[in-house]
Amino acid sequence: MTAVAIEGVSRAFGAVQAVAAISLDIRDGEFFTLLGPSGCGKTTLLRMIAGFCELDCGVIRFGDKRIDTLAAHRRNTGMVFQNYAIFPNLNVGANVAYGLRARKVATARIAERVRSALKLVHLEDYEARWPHQLSGGQLQRVAIARALVIEPEVLLLDEPLSNLDAQLRVEMRGEIRQLQQSLGITAIYVTHDQEEALAISDRIAVMRAGRLEQVGTPDSIYRNSATPFVAQFMGITNLLEGKVLGHEGAHLVVEAGATRFRIESVAIAPGEAITFSLRPEALRVLGAGEAPPPDWGVIEAQVARAEFLGTLTRIEAHLPDATMLRIALLDQTIETPAAGQTLSLCYDPRRVSVPERS
Ligand SMILES: Nc1ncnc2c1ncn2[C@@H]1O[C@H](COP(=O)(O)OP(=O)(O)OP(=O)(O)O)[C@@H](O)[C@H]1O
Ligand SMILES: [Mg+2]
Repeated sequence: MTAVAIEGVSRAFGAVQAVAAISLDIRDGEFFTLLGPSGCGKTTLLRMIAGFCELDCGVIRFGDKRIDTLAAHRRNTGMVFQNYAIFPNLNVGANVAYGLRARKVATARIAERVRSALKLVHLEDYEARWPHQLSGGQLQRVAIARALVIEPEVLLLDEPLSNLDAQLRVEMRGEIRQLQQSLGITAIYVTHDQEEALAISDRIAVMRAGRLEQVGTPDSIYRNSATPFVAQFMGITNLLEGKVLGHEGAHLVVEAGATRFRIESVAIAPGEAITFSLRPEALRVLGAGEAPPPDWGVIEAQVARAEFLGTLTRIEAHLPDATMLRIALLDQTIETPAAGQTLSLCYDPRRVSVPERS
């Protein structure tokens, strides 16, 4: 249970600036996720915290203690790798015991701690099994037990679920979150999967090309994305460009193509260019003669494609200036619209966000 402070940390590999002057404060007991596309520097930053990669500059502290100058085995972190890194020539018990043996823990204590670590990951009966006799999910559990058995201050996980099938991934992420909460341990989790990050994290740092784009709760990052990059990376969105016409009541009126949008007022003057994000699920279809809720925006779009997917219907439609608009209707009992049909759509202006241009 430890707060982690990362202060001005950088690392370059030749001409590639893998991590560029990152500062982050991770709270004691927090589940913190580094999220971003391939090559943005997530693993490099995690390896710097673990002690497997040197810093070019900056400081890392666990609580008040500076740790970036310590050797990896003195940092008291447990690390779980994407490829499990289980030793094939050791059985489950010996794999989990490995870190304790390396730390010269007394043999009698080792047996006890291995048993309780295996219990945490629901593998208490697997101690004598060999790695080749385990499923992918069980191997990942062994890797988690091996990381936890040393009672680390900070648990580091680098895409621990990416080798598992979709259903097991969802199950295991729930288990990891539950385990982290019951132990109250600080966890830093790396993934490039935005849904996984949203589901599991207290806070998320979205990274891009070695830098932080935004740090915040899942909710704030999804709803109030700070940059167009974040808005697009956090799931599907309609990123539209327009010009501010003026105010109308509490709203700003923006013209994008030939369509007027209402958005909740932000400090932007008439005449200025603006990029705004409208999530597909914020749009609703208005039936014939149906009035929108008061103050909502109304737009028209022509259907290009519609797919009924059971829980939701996905529609691609065109605004009058041919801009493509994505619509996701959840539980709205309308018939799946046909291509060419014109839809009247409404949305709550509060659901429109205005990311800063980066
Ligand atoms: N040991 C190394 N030598 C040279 N370049 C490296 C090394 N490690 C990382 N890099 C480069 O640094 C950048 C960041 O890599 P990193 O592995 O941190 O990315 P990542 O966000 O973890 O990506 P992924 O999602 O693909 O795992 C990449 O351009 C990568 O090629
Ligand atoms: Mg990586």
